[in-house]
Amino acid sequence: MLGTLQRARSLLNCSLSKALKNVRGVQSSAGRLSDHLFVHRDSEENNPNTPFEFNEANKKRVEAILAIYPEGHKRGAMMPLLDLAQRQLGWLPISAMHKVAEILKLPNMRVYEVATFYTMFNRQPVGKYHVQVCTCTPCWLRGSDEILQAVTKAANCAVGHTSADKLFTVIEVECLGACANAPMLQVNDDYYEDLTAETTEKIINALKNGQDKPPPGPQVSSRFAAEPAGQLTTLTSPPPGPGFKIRSDL
Ligand code: FES
Repeated sequence: MLGTLQRARSLLNCSLSKALKNVRGVQSSAGRLSDHLFVHRDSEENNPNTPFEFNEANKKRVEAILAIYPEGHKRGAMMPLLDLAQRQLGWLPISAMHKVAEILKLPNMRVYEVATFYTMFNRQPVGKYHVQVCTCTPCWLRGSDEILQAVTKAANCAVGHTSADKLFTVIEVECLGACANAPMLQVNDDYYEDLTAETTEKIINALKNGQDKPPPGPQVSSRFAAEPAGQLTTLTSPPPGPGFKIRSDL
């Protein structure tokens, strides 16, 4: 009897530890890779001498952006200018930060502080498609682990890396603010929502094969945006008119 109990307990421990190995804990968050450290180390492709200059079209945009901000507050243009630099090059080398500092007449450090704080600034080169998979709690509860797996398999690229063909960079990110349509991912500027492993693979394969960009938005549901997946749960009756619940003697 004792032997049977011990065997049952060891079987239970074994399957429990197997199950735990396959399940990510609720408390865990996306792993930070060392190449995402908030420090800069000069490399061959990213150093103060990396050539960077806004092109002619963007120089006009720089002027238009600066014109929005009153004299003495031009530094407010820092994020739009960093974004513009990143859109021109696909990523943000330290020399582009220096250019923005020069335009805004600020010490370089003021620009580093902003560029290293916001994860939207890519301080390392990324692939043609920057795939950001949300693995924050609501997306995780709706199956983001499967979505991440589908992305890495279809893109042939590990998390935190760029694929050999330089088409994809895959990263895990915290909440992208589309929890009502979880699970979701972002490819460059587009959100793909209400995903399954199959729809995710389809999206990545279409990008890989150079087909037309799959339409962003909810994928498996018939939703247009973030409206209820089923029937309306609020605003189901006509709104009461003026004076509703107001005292009659007023
Ligand atoms: S948790 Fe994924 S978008 Fe909010």
